[in-house]
Amino acid sequence: MTILTPNPNPPFNITRLSHIVLTSRDLDKTRYFYETGLGFEVTEQDSERLCLRAIEENSHHSLIFEKTTSDGPGLCRHIGYRMFSDEDIKAAHDYFNARGETASFVERPNQGLTLRLNDGVGVPIEFCATMDQDTCRMQKFHTHAGGKLAFLDHIQIACHDVAGAYTWYNDLGFRLSEYTAKDGTDEMWGVWLKRKNNTQDVVFGNGPGPRLHHFAYHTPEIANVIHAADVMASLGLADSMDRAPGRHGIGNAFFLYFRDPDGNRIELFTSHYNVIDIDHAPKRWELSDTRRSQLWGFPAPKKWFFEATEFETVVVKKPVMEATPVTLEDFLKNW
Ligand SMILES: [Fe+2]
Repeated sequence: MTILTPNPNPPFNITRLSHIVLTSRDLDKTRYFYETGLGFEVTEQDSERLCLRAIEENSHHSLIFEKTTSDGPGLCRHIGYRMFSDEDIKAAHDYFNARGETASFVERPNQGLTLRLNDGVGVPIEFCATMDQDTCRMQKFHTHAGGKLAFLDHIQIACHDVAGAYTWYNDLGFRLSEYTAKDGTDEMWGVWLKRKNNTQDVVFGNGPGPRLHHFAYHTPEIANVIHAADVMASLGLADSMDRAPGRHGIGNAFFLYFRDPDGNRIELFTSHYNVIDIDHAPKRWELSDTRRSQLWGFPAPKKWFFEATEFETVVVKKPVMEATPVTLEDFLKNW
């Protein structure tokens, strides 16, 4: 598919990615990983729910874990986005239902009016405009720890129908900052889509899906990313590293990935860039160009490409596109 014309006047105003809700088999283990290890703030915990946020976040939560009795790996219950106002949410309710997409209001603790639906490729998503607020830890420097993570920045979805996702989100005013296409064709392998002022709120990359590949928190310094690795090692959690540090070509991010006790993948990163002007042209990458995944650094291991968190009750579909990634294992054979 060719690049779509951005929609500058969507029917309602989505402002950014807001939060993620996942399951946890053991909330205390999860808390240790995120609070003691990575430096998150716990805003609330009881026997059923753990709410977390990062240093610059005034809102009650950007990451929630809900206790599960399942023995299986973690599941994602939904992805949360923010809208500008409750009027936008009401407009979205009418818009989606008029299109035949069922959208329903739901009650959520610590949030105002909240709307739930499945997006165009089956990802359960929720929209709210308000959330309980409390002063963040930005200037409580003595509390900054672990990766010193500032805010939730983006998610990446492994997706069976990248073109379908791009079309659905483009209609809602998301803009394309960068993309990967099969060499010499217009067939999209991955799309980096944004509402806020940087490169992405949500990424869709080709693969069995929909599944949550990772969620990513921003920190302002490369040293903070490396310090997180040192802290995790000193806690005996070095094995939770899923992909060694490097720099992505796409988005320019200096990255490091971990897997939490339920197998969910979190990216710690820094140094992506602003995309604000409406005439900022999307940047194209050829699928065969490995610099898109690592400008420098080792390729990701197989598990990084093939393992991801499923959405609860959502059936995973085979991808439309056949594409074989270059993995760390492939790279080492020829090194
Ligand atoms: Fe990412």
